[in-house]
Amino acid sequence: MNSTAVLGCMWGDEAKAKIVDVLALDADMIVRFQGGNNAGHTIKLGDKKYVFHLVPSGILYPEKECILGSGVVIDIAGLNGEIEKLKAQGVSFEGRFYIDPRAQIVLPIHKELDAGKEDTRKDKIGTTKRGIGPCYSDAVARAGIRFGDLFDKEYLTSRLENNFLYHDVKDADVEALAELLMKEAAPLRACLKQIPYYLSESTDKKILFEGAQGSLLDVNFGSYPFVTSSHTISGGISVGTGYAQNKIGKIVGVYKSYFTRVGGGPFPTELENEIGEQIRKQGNEFGSTTGRPRRCGWFDAVAAKFTVMINGVNEIALTLVDVLSELPELKICTSYLLDGKETKEFPHNPNDLGKVEPQYIEVPTWKEDITQIKDYAKLPENARNYVEKIEEILGVRVSIVSVGPERTQTIFR
Ligand code: GDP
Ligand code: IMO
Ligand code: MG
Repeated sequence: MNSTAVLGCMWGDEAKAKIVDVLALDADMIVRFQGGNNAGHTIKLGDKKYVFHLVPSGILYPEKECILGSGVVIDIAGLNGEIEKLKAQGVSFEGRFYIDPRAQIVLPIHKELDAGKEDTRKDKIGTTKRGIGPCYSDAVARAGIRFGDLFDKEYLTSRLENNFLYHDVKDADVEALAELLMKEAAPLRACLKQIPYYLSESTDKKILFEGAQGSLLDVNFGSYPFVTSSHTISGGISVGTGYAQNKIGKIVGVYKSYFTRVGGGPFPTELENEIGEQIRKQGNEFGSTTGRPRRCGWFDAVAAKFTVMINGVNEIALTLVDVLSELPELKICTSYLLDGKETKEFPHNPNDLGKVEPQYIEVPTWKEDITQIKDYAKLPENARNYVEKIEEILGVRVSIVSVGPERTQTIFR
């Protein structure tokens, strides 16, 4: 049971990378199990800022192994670019970066489809346009190309022919695409490893699973259809790595102290007012991947309780608590009114989620800057009250309180 998972439990951008960075100190391997370069994971170290899209956030520790499991979708050129940039910043990948041969490859057609389909959809999802949805669609349609295919020209060509037939593309230059993909993949050949065996055999190592996106973006349990196309919840770890579910030791759920969302879809506690603006400004709530302003709102404990449940969250990391300092008021949504009736269930369809009226409790605010506080007892009483209120409502211990983007701005309880 040497493994821990760090999962975003909202609509993404919960500061997963910061928590991974903090917990990775005690881990040997950091493993991504889903998503692709739609993710934008930020780590701040002094005056340096790193944004990871595909590379696991543990790579900044020189001795840790970093792994992309079978559930990740890989844009090879994007990954090479990310690696080159990190190498230029002094990060070495030598002998410690591995990719499962089953990981699906994002093809040019996936990006074209992602951009094109979005324009013609009635329900605009506001995707990151990285080709993620079409790539996962091809995977389940059994028309995808996998990382391991990129090292066998004959097999790759037959797979690409199949993919073009599937998409009804008649004039494709299969040969040219096969050559391009093989050329791009060549520097990554040494990374190829059967990850299910590798993880299973690494019994003496501590594994840290790094979630991307968040539970409310899960393709099944999120706010469908306004979701991403992968399994972002704890069940996705086994699906996306081949690591048996019953070996996962601990699930750390990462929750922001308020809610945010990028892209389309209902957001019951959204604040389309000055307070929402203030949170966006104080929390610097602009997308790490697309730069889009994030929608901001109050902490939604109905949604949060749902994601505690579906993930089996054992501990909570509550992040960006510093952003709440100086807000003129502070609210937590504890139930919804749906067609005049109170409910504590997260609706399964966007029509209901779009019309619920959040019911709030108001909690006392604090004005003090808490960004330098290291000791939980030294937090203002009302900040502690806020943390403990969330803990009480969700029924899970908040074991980490994050009060700033730096490693050192972390309070362990
Ligand atoms: P992720 O996708 O979940 O890893 O989160 P992002 O990196 O997209 O967004 C989180 C942002 O909040 C990043 O800019 C972090 O540097 C920043 N951040 C992380 N923790 C804290 C915190 O406790 N306080 C503040 N103010 N910023 C934080
Ligand atoms: P991290 O890992 C926030 C959102 C997009 C869009 C929806 C579908 O940084 O938390 P996609 O491109 O995945 O098909 O888009 O999901 N989305 C994210 N929102 N953080 C992310 O990643 C996201 N990745 C995708 O904005 O609404
Ligand atoms: Mg992000």
